[in-house]
Amino acid sequence: MKRKGILLAGGTGSRLWPITMGTSKQLLPIYDKPMVYYPLSVLMLAGIREIAIITTPEDQPQFKRLLGGGGQWGVSFTWIVQDRPEGLAQAYLLTRDFLGGAPSAMVLGDNIFFGHGLPELMARADAQESGGTVFGYHVADPERYGVAAFDPSGRVTAIVEKPKVPPSNFAITGLYFLDGRAPALAAKVKPSARGELEIVDLLEAYRAEGSLQVERMGRGFAWLDTGTPGSLLDAGNFVRTLEARQGMQVGSPDEVAFQQGWIDRAGLADRAQVFGKSSYGAQLQAMLKDAP
Ligand code: DAU
Repeated sequence: MKRKGILLAGGTGSRLWPITMGTSKQLLPIYDKPMVYYPLSVLMLAGIREIAIITTPEDQPQFKRLLGGGGQWGVSFTWIVQDRPEGLAQAYLLTRDFLGGAPSAMVLGDNIFFGHGLPELMARADAQESGGTVFGYHVADPERYGVAAFDPSGRVTAIVEKPKVPPSNFAITGLYFLDGRAPALAAKVKPSARGELEIVDLLEAYRAEGSLQVERMGRGFAWLDTGTPGSLLDAGNFVRTLEARQGMQVGSPDEVAFQQGWIDRAGLADRAQVFGKSSYGAQLQAMLKDAP
């Protein structure tokens, strides 16, 4: 079965409360486009065209206004509400019917990935029909994330959420490729002490049966955080620097849709029109000029 996508864009991001006043931080801009464009374009880069978007009930209208039905990018969106942020693993319970037994790739709405070779990395994860693949990224502050522990031979022995004493520097990023059993396995996860269905507990079910791959994302990749005012600004500056230097886009669903052949020149021209005189619109115009 073809892999389906889940974009988890619920929650509120409490550390950014003074900036968002409670609405979803995934709607904030990262430099020249909304934050949610970045993880969405990652799913599209993985070749995924059927995507469930999970939001809070309050934020769903704004997300719908921003993202529409998906047809403008040749993809389709299914809208799902998460009433309360009761944990990342809950996303698999909410998408059980949508997935219908298909394998999935879930990305968190506030995770930004960039790097040469990302499509290939994800194609390898997609090719694995049973079990799961997650990505380990070397960070200076692993205690803020889910962290992988390895034995001397490099095999994963545990994944722990925000450990006070991290067993390694490898954080588990917010991109999860799981097989069709994820909803059934998530149903067995019990709420943690903080009352959430923890993604690490779901991953542990896969790890315990020996079917979890932890692929390391090397230093050629950027995995950016947007959880604090400072990291939000850093992410924007990073994108600005790259785009200004290369004259190419980072995290543009319009570019990915065009490259994938899911929209044609006329479709891209329509999108450039929508964005008018903005720098994002100008970049789409430039892409149209360069395209064969
Ligand atoms: O970013 C990667 C990290 O994401 C992983 O390393 C951790 O293992 C994982 O637990 C998660 O950690 P965070 O501390 O970043 O989780 P947070 O609660 O901030 O949620 C991440 C995003 O998902 C955030 O944009 C809000 C959204 N979310 C969160 C929860 C708990 C939901 O949409 N629904 C939820 O129930």
